Amino acid sequence: MAKINITIDNKAIECNENETILNVARANDVFIPAICYLNDCSPTLACRLCMVQSDGKQVFACNAKAKDGVVITTSNKELESHRNDVMQVYDVNHPLECGVCDKSGECELQNYTHYTEVSTQNHTIADTPRPQEEFNEDILYNPGLCIMCERCITVCNDSVGEGALGTRQREGESLNKDLKETISKDLFAMWNKLQKSLIAPTSGENLDCSSCGECISVCPVGSLTSKHFEYTSNAWELTKIPASNPHSSDCELMYYEVKHSSGTSNEAKIYRVTNDFGFSNLHGAARFGFDYISNSAKNEKELSNTLIAFKKADTIIFDSFITNEEALILQRLKEKYGYKLINHEAKAYQDFLYNFGHLYSANTKDIKSSDLIIVLGTNLSHDHPNTGYAINKALKMNKAKALYFHPIENNIVSSFAKPKSLLSITHKVYEEENILEYIANKMTPINIDTEFKFDDELQEQIDSFCDTNSTVTIVVGEDYYTHPNSSYLSSLLHEISINSNIKVMLIPPKTNSLGVSLICDLDKDEGEYSIGYNQKGDFTMSALGTGDIQIPSLAQQEGTFTNINKKVVPTNVAVTFDGYNLNDIANFMGLEAKNTIDYTHELPVFKGYKNIKFDELDNFYGNDNIEYRGYEIEDNFCFIPQTSSKKELENKDETYIYRCNPIKQFNYLTGASKNITESHGVYASKEYLDSLDLKSSDTISLNIENTTFDTNIYVDNKINGNICYITDFNSAIPTENIFKNGYRFKPVSIKKGAN
Ligand code: SF4
Ligand code: SF4
Ligand code: FES
Repeated sequence: MAKINITIDNKAIECNENETILNVARANDVFIPAICYLNDCSPTLACRLCMVQSDGKQVFACNAKAKDGVVITTSNKELESHRNDVMQVYDVNHPLECGVCDKSGECELQNYTHYTEVSTQNHTIADTPRPQEEFNEDILYNPGLCIMCERCITVCNDSVGEGALGTRQREGESLNKDLKETISKDLFAMWNKLQKSLIAPTSGENLDCSSCGECISVCPVGSLTSKHFEYTSNAWELTKIPASNPHSSDCELMYYEVKHSSGTSNEAKIYRVTNDFGFSNLHGAARFGFDYISNSAKNEKELSNTLIAFKKADTIIFDSFITNEEALILQRLKEKYGYKLINHEAKAYQDFLYNFGHLYSANTKDIKSSDLIIVLGTNLSHDHPNTGYAINKALKMNKAKALYFHPIENNIVSSFAKPKSLLSITHKVYEEENILEYIANKMTPINIDTEFKFDDELQEQIDSFCDTNSTVTIVVGEDYYTHPNSSYLSSLLHEISINSNIKVMLIPPKTNSLGVSLICDLDKDEGEYSIGYNQKGDFTMSALGTGDIQIPSLAQQEGTFTNINKKVVPTNVAVTFDGYNLNDIANFMGLEAKNTIDYTHELPVFKGYKNIKFDELDNFYGNDNIEYRGYEIEDNFCFIPQTSSKKELENKDETYIYRCNPIKQFNYLTGASKNITESHGVYASKEYLDSLDLKSSDTISLNIENTTFDTNIYVDNKINGNICYITDFNSAIPTENIFKNGYRFKPVSIKKGAN
């Protein structure tokens, strides 16, 4: 991108051509007041507060591009008077309920009212009653506080991709037209909108969305708030603890906000999770699934039982909701005592990654700047919402195109863009190999002999997306890692990556699947006696309090994760844990480390990790829009892919069920969260339930691979078609056992009623 030189308030600045004045100012620590603009989203020009002078002409900094040689003035009498006028209008009829408002102390309306020195009110207009509304089980809307900045609409559309919020008529008093003589036309337009509109769900009365809560996060006032946080604390009483999302492999920067749990107890409690909305997005589980904490005291008897069990055990079974440091401790215990390390999901991912040959090349930034993104093998908005946000940004902000292939039709992904830029193709189970071969033939010099064809019209549409001159990223999910032809798929992806400029991303299925895959030598078969580490074993260590000894949850641990962008990012303790953690147990068994984070700089360098201590890892975003979080691992390992022949698999037109969780459930901790209420069981589209003559919550009897059991079936409005999915975040149904070594799709028979 070409560089240009501009001046802002006498400061000479070099910046990129085509950057907005506001972004250039922010990157260079020059403050310009702005309410409605959201970084990386389209400007709405709703607030008019960011007015500056560019070579003497008034422009809005969030919308005007910097031009070579231009001289910008951000503050003078005229501009300050305009900003004072804007804030006066915002303050007309804004209820003075700051004493109880959730936003008080961090409210942009309060801050800008002070900043612009509003000390008088020159305007009046009759108010209209605007009672509070409950948008859904997480989100409250107080229209009386709404300043119609439209940030909530913008973030939901441009970042999250759901477009679940829009405007509706407010039916407020009309402005007196004579005002046009006394106030500026910008101010009149802004006030007029304030009187005329409110926010509303775009479809139906209730907000039927993924409930990520980003709209709460961006609301500058206390208009959109979290039902779980309402009236629980003043913002200024909370201590912000930077951490990383523990529920999925975006491991996005988030803050646990903590204070004492009650007037009579000094025990710390997490009151909410927040994020730097200008730089990152959180999904619903990250934002609301924080309320499970493990409580325990050191107990000699439990410790002695644990050490006896470790002596007896030959196997440790675990999952990837652990830190890199815990993974290294398990690996060290393996090296010292020969334990088999069993983690089925990470093993499938590790095998796929090793057979792919090296670390995948793409990261989230590559997705955002791609011309074409091809998504394969993932029910994206459930498996990895943040990758969905990145793809939506590419479509919305970069005019990219996307091809989305999956047996389940996902309405959230389809809503990212119109068919001209996003083609969502619902294919049959077991067609993954055909589709990847098609892409290889179409977009690379590889030539595979195949008879597979899409139907003519679809073929034409797909072909129109496949421009070989484009910057292309292929995003692959867990269906591929567990596929009976996974080695064929991984070696073909390897061929694609070395025979073209196409970048590949292999989504780590759980929070730290990538870290576990790089740090641990995983085994395939269990031995005779197992320790379960947050998994069922002969002796179980559990953060849920359901095992033989209690261990801390991820909100109670210091350490690092290796995230989807191949970065080692730190997480911190929100609430202390008084029992034994894995490091304590390992020390009793002969390893030596005072704290778990003493392992951070010992992570394996030959796998790309660096010899950097935990306390040296940053965890923030800069005003320059740069991520200062941990470090990126190097692509240090190289395996020769084993080209394996393709097994011929047949879709016998059976009924299939898919292993997948509802949108806010990711693991046993989200399952234990009181804030997240999605049940375990089976989910299906409304049309599928109707075809089975079932209603939401009905009891059904399932048979999958000769295992019969009862559960409940629920509607998921976010999917279409005739494939249902079954949850695996709660062990009340035997999903984990049935699916532990295999493909995410299995034939199923479903009967109404209990056995
Ligand atoms: S919760 Fe998320 S998806 Fe729902 S309206 Fe808000 S931003 Fe949109
Ligand atoms: S609800 Fe909040 S974010 Fe949305 S328009 Fe109103 S003030 Fe702005
Ligand atoms: S920030 Fe520019 S118009 Fe609101």
